[in-house]
Amino acid sequence: MKNYTKIKDISNLSETIKDAILLKMNPFEFQDLGKHKTLVMLFFNSSLRTRLSTEKAAKNLGMEVMMLNINDAWNLEFEDGTIMNMDKSEHIKEAAQVISQYADVIAVRAFPTLEDKAKDESEYILNNFKKYATVPIINMESATAHPLQALADAITITELTEKAKPKVVLSWAPHPKALPQAVANSFIEMMQELEVDLTITHPKGYELSKEITKNTPINHNQEDALKDADFVYVKNWSSYNDYGKVLNQDDNWMLTKAKLGHAKFMHCLPVRRNVIVEDAVLDSEQSVVIKQANNRTYAAQVVLKQILEGL
Ligand code: CP
Repeated sequence: MKNYTKIKDISNLSETIKDAILLKMNPFEFQDLGKHKTLVMLFFNSSLRTRLSTEKAAKNLGMEVMMLNINDAWNLEFEDGTIMNMDKSEHIKEAAQVISQYADVIAVRAFPTLEDKAKDESEYILNNFKKYATVPIINMESATAHPLQALADAITITELTEKAKPKVVLSWAPHPKALPQAVANSFIEMMQELEVDLTITHPKGYELSKEITKNTPINHNQEDALKDADFVYVKNWSSYNDYGKVLNQDDNWMLTKAKLGHAKFMHCLPVRRNVIVEDAVLDSEQSVVIKQANNRTYAAQVVLKQILEGL
């Protein structure tokens, strides 16, 4: 693997999921692979799970880890040809090349603006690192995708399914703030690669990009969509068509225990209790959110392992 910026960078998904589950059973088996190799993690945005699980994954492989909150560094310019006489002190061209001298792998977290759709869809931060860095790049959640989360979700469903083809429902839920579409996008793309029966449910106005949903069924009736589900993945996202807007805060879309039925509950975390999902779901045996978060380590570890093997 050269980079992991999108799900399609995984050449053999079923083997990768199997390898991640093996790593979970024996996390230190490849301690020599990362010896004298350094992962530099760059955060343009907050994180709990991604930061700690990716560091843990790198250390399990024997790597050194360095972390930088970009707000602590010089303000970066991403446009070409700018006269840099305002607030930007350093261009991505120099920054990415310099960081590459300190790193064997660079991981980047950079959320969307949710204001400029074209700019967000161009993935200008991630793609500029890809363009100017001289080492592999890992996406730790970008403007439009969260492929490490999606791989952890795929591992979790593979481990927990009792059926050859489980019914998986991705349900929108209300949230007071405008959130990115990245988690939903990558979850859908990942489920389209797995042997699952995927349905999406959301209020009208929350349609995701057709390039992502493709032919996946979309049902605007949440209760109907949730019938006979084996896994219910709940996530808020802001409007894609009316870009970045919060159109609906109808708390009838919050997931309740009654609506969950016998399904397992999934969420990438962090989650707002009694807004996205009620306490009774999160505190029940049906919630697998802690297992999902644990699998973030092995998703990151299998990706780092494949990248290190290709260096
Ligand atoms: N799920 C996830 O990416 O969590 P963090 O934002 O805490 O990293």
